[in-house]
Amino acid sequence: MSMNYELSILCVIFFRIFTSSSASCDYHGFLYCLSVHIPPPTNLSRILYSPESPDYSTVLLSSIRNLRFVTPSRQKPYFIVTPTNISHIQASVICGRKHGLPIRVRSGGHDYEGLSYRSEDGRPFIIVDLANIRSVDVDPTKATAWVQAGATLGELYYTIAENSRQLGFPAGICPTVGVGGHLTGGGFGTMLRKYGLAADNILDAILIDANGEVLNKDTMGEDLFWAIRGGGAASFGIVVSWKIKLVPVPPKVTVFTISRNLAQGAVDLVTKWQSIAPKLHENLFIRIVITKEAKEGGEMEVVASFNSLFLGQCEELLQLMEKSFFELRMKREDCKEMSWIQSVLYFAFYTNRIPLEDLLDRGTKPERFFKAKSDFVQEPVPSFLWGRIWGRFLEDEAGVLIMDPYGGTMNNFSDSATPFPHRQGNLYNLQYFVEWRENGTVPYNKHMKWVRKVYKEMSPYVSHNPRAAYMNYRDLDLGKNELDGNVTSYSKAKVWGLRYFKSNFERLAFIKGRVDPGDFFRNEQSIPPLLPQESSAGFSAT
Ligand SMILES: Cc1cc2nc3c(=O)[nH]c(=O)nc-3n(C[C@H](O)[C@H](O)[C@H](O)COP(=O)(O)OP(=O)(O)OC[C@H]3O[C@@H](n4cnc5c(N)ncnc54)[C@H](O)[C@@H]3O)c2cc1C
Ligand SMILES: *[C@@H]1O[C@H](CO)[C@@H](O)[C@H](O)[C@H]1NC(C)=O
Ligand SMILES: *[C@@H]1O[C@H](CO)[C@@H](O)[C@H](O)[C@H]1NC(C)=O
Ligand SMILES: *[C@@H]1O[C@H](CO)[C@@H](O)[C@H](O)[C@H]1NC(C)=O
Ligand SMILES: *[C@@H]1O[C@H](CO)[C@@H](O)[C@H](O)[C@H]1NC(C)=O
Ligand SMILES: *[C@@H]1O[C@H](CO)[C@@H](O)[C@H](O)[C@H]1NC(C)=O
Repeated sequence: MSMNYELSILCVIFFRIFTSSSASCDYHGFLYCLSVHIPPPTNLSRILYSPESPDYSTVLLSSIRNLRFVTPSRQKPYFIVTPTNISHIQASVICGRKHGLPIRVRSGGHDYEGLSYRSEDGRPFIIVDLANIRSVDVDPTKATAWVQAGATLGELYYTIAENSRQLGFPAGICPTVGVGGHLTGGGFGTMLRKYGLAADNILDAILIDANGEVLNKDTMGEDLFWAIRGGGAASFGIVVSWKIKLVPVPPKVTVFTISRNLAQGAVDLVTKWQSIAPKLHENLFIRIVITKEAKEGGEMEVVASFNSLFLGQCEELLQLMEKSFFELRMKREDCKEMSWIQSVLYFAFYTNRIPLEDLLDRGTKPERFFKAKSDFVQEPVPSFLWGRIWGRFLEDEAGVLIMDPYGGTMNNFSDSATPFPHRQGNLYNLQYFVEWRENGTVPYNKHMKWVRKVYKEMSPYVSHNPRAAYMNYRDLDLGKNELDGNVTSYSKAKVWGLRYFKSNFERLAFIKGRVDPGDFFRNEQSIPPLLPQESSAGFSAT
């Protein structure tokens, strides 16, 4: 194969540039190994792309969501493997490990820092892209489903609705998000107050570990099964599929969106919402999106949109709102009754007047630059601060603030029930999100600066020690891994690890130490391996 020759040249060039790396890769060896592990009739060139392949760029870009990471730099993978069979994933792990090529696994590609398809450590790597591993099998009589990692939330919701209009699943709002990354990092959306996180509704999983072995819930053991439900499976292996528990949804749900500007009392309403929304009936979810909108004359104003899903009908909702949140002055005309699956469309696209099939659109290339950060709020933020934040939103480069209320079933889980520790005591999750479309360092710098500035202004009023963050809203500002010998340094990783996982971080590191002591599954924010003797506190992993 002439491809081999080209690649070995690449490899040599690579090592001239990045001589500090202790890793060594062997491309011939990797390719040969793959051809042995993936024999005919599978045509290897249909599932393996090198930079010389005509389709390499298309495949690479296919699920990148953030233009910030589309750069002509060294961060590109040396191969992309697009498995169509579980055995191809095993082969990638076995051969990647044997020949010094670490793996980034990608399901939906929505990682906020692009860690599923790029690397900052300057070492060669390959992508295992699961876009073709995406079947969804629903068992409506048992109210369960097996969903493969490469499926999107849209494909999952659509297939559930095809099988039953009485069942749903409590996961995120954006339909193009991948099931692989989303469920393993927690995953929340409009039904979190009723049914918790997506990760709370996982019954079983198929995982390929660093030895290329296929494990399920029973064979992986309790602690590894715990770790991948909120701790990020990318540190432990490759999830092939999840068995999930579907949840009952009523035949009709009600949605509304009520927007208020400053003159309509938005600042007071946002302030009140903070103590009301987390205590509402668990069937009622009201989030807030603060953003800048053009008024009729074209002038900009800041509005808070109260965006709600109620698992019931308008009449009952009106009564609840009158009793719990009359200040919002919700009216009968605000109610939109529809099926649960229509509400999925409504939240995703702000309209349900489009075909359900739109949920199946996976997108084909990135369209915008963005940066996000997150906080958890435990005490209501005082109204004067909301007033100040309002001013920030009038700035040119302003973004969006999304406030997702917790409470309800989220309080039923102890902080250590899953690696996701943000349970009782949290009023809501706050997401700072800024996006832009113009290329260049000037727009880049001003948008990045805006989001970091607002985050900084909030610091006295949000959770602290640690200032917690949501792992699925990954943020490399919180810290990056450094190597200690061949493996990720535990003390450096604590900087970001405690924010995502609080006291669950140490347990995750012990599990990592047991299942992947060589740190094969590594990225800029992967869990470091900790071996039992490294514990000063005599910590037990069970
Ligand atoms: C537009 C948008 C909207 C969003 N909306 C929500 C929301 O409503 N609620 C919410 O909770 N979150 C939301 N998120 C965040 C989302 O949950 C995370 O970005 C999630 O990790 C994305 O999963 P993915 O498979 O698409 O991403 P990927 O980029 O493919 O993966 C994310 C991480 O998981 C790892 N990973 C992926 N697949 C596997 C696998 N099979 N096995 C092991 N590791 C794997 C990757 O290596 C990477 O580290 C949103 C993100 C975006 C961009
Ligand atoms: C394998 O696939 C490639 C690309 O589609 C094609 O050019 C080649 O002919 C195929 N080889 C075989 C043996 O089918
Ligand atoms: C996947 O590979 C296994 C062997 O590892 C084989 O039994 C199975 O038929 C393959 N499935 C598909 C869909 O190719
Ligand atoms: C959570 O706890 C509340 C109060 O104890 C209870 O009403 C509710 O049913 C629980 N939810 C779940 C899913 O167990
Ligand atoms: C942005 O500009 C850089 C430098 O000119 C270029 O390499 C990159 O491809 C551009 N990105 C986009 C999305 O246009
Ligand atoms: C690093 O890995 C190499 C190759 O696997 C091994 O020989 C060496 O002992 C490791 N070093 C440390 C500090 O673990």
